[in-house]
Amino acid sequence: MKRKGRLAVFISGRGSNFISIYRHAQKESSNYEVVAVVCDSPNAKGLENAKLWGIDTFVFNPLDYKKKSLYEKEAVDFLLNRQIDLIALAGYMRIVGKTLLKSFEGKILNIHPSLLPAFPGLNAQKQALDYGVKYSGCTVHFVDSGIDTGKIIEQRVVKVYKDDNEDDLADRILKEEHDVYPQVINNYFNKKV
Ligand code: GRF
Repeated sequence: MKRKGRLAVFISGRGSNFISIYRHAQKESSNYEVVAVVCDSPNAKGLENAKLWGIDTFVFNPLDYKKKSLYEKEAVDFLLNRQIDLIALAGYMRIVGKTLLKSFEGKILNIHPSLLPAFPGLNAQKQALDYGVKYSGCTVHFVDSGIDTGKIIEQRVVKVYKDDNEDDLADRILKEEHDVYPQVINNYFNKKV
């Protein structure tokens, strides 16, 4: 049987994308498995699921390190020890530094809740509402050294309604995120990305 792709998911908080990525991996048709979780916050809600599902975790507090390269070096060692093929950032709230980028060049994906290149960075849904766009959505892209600037792989569009608040829009986008991200990861391992 063909070896399944070995995925690490990076989270910082609630981890709903992590759940959908993991659930997809449980299907027989999935060609990847979630082997590791990296998290920069010991109290992140998403870690509870990692524990429940018996997934190896590397949890760190950035304040314990003098610089980014030091915790990224530990993360890289953790990932290399587990033969990770691909990293999916899923609500990971840190800019990826050189240490991680160099070791996993072209092998780091992110999902962002806007139609990039519009509204990169924090509070993308609020940015979209403030601007008054009629459509927004989410984008899966490769990670480079910029903020949400890497090559776009896939996008999903959602309608923005007049009376939407940030939560309404975030929920509508999140539904699409949960569907598209596992698909892109699967396609990556089918060499369709
Ligand atoms: C998602 O909206 C994702 O697009 C963004 O951060 C949020 C993470 O949500 N990068 P969750 O932790 O996966 O629930």
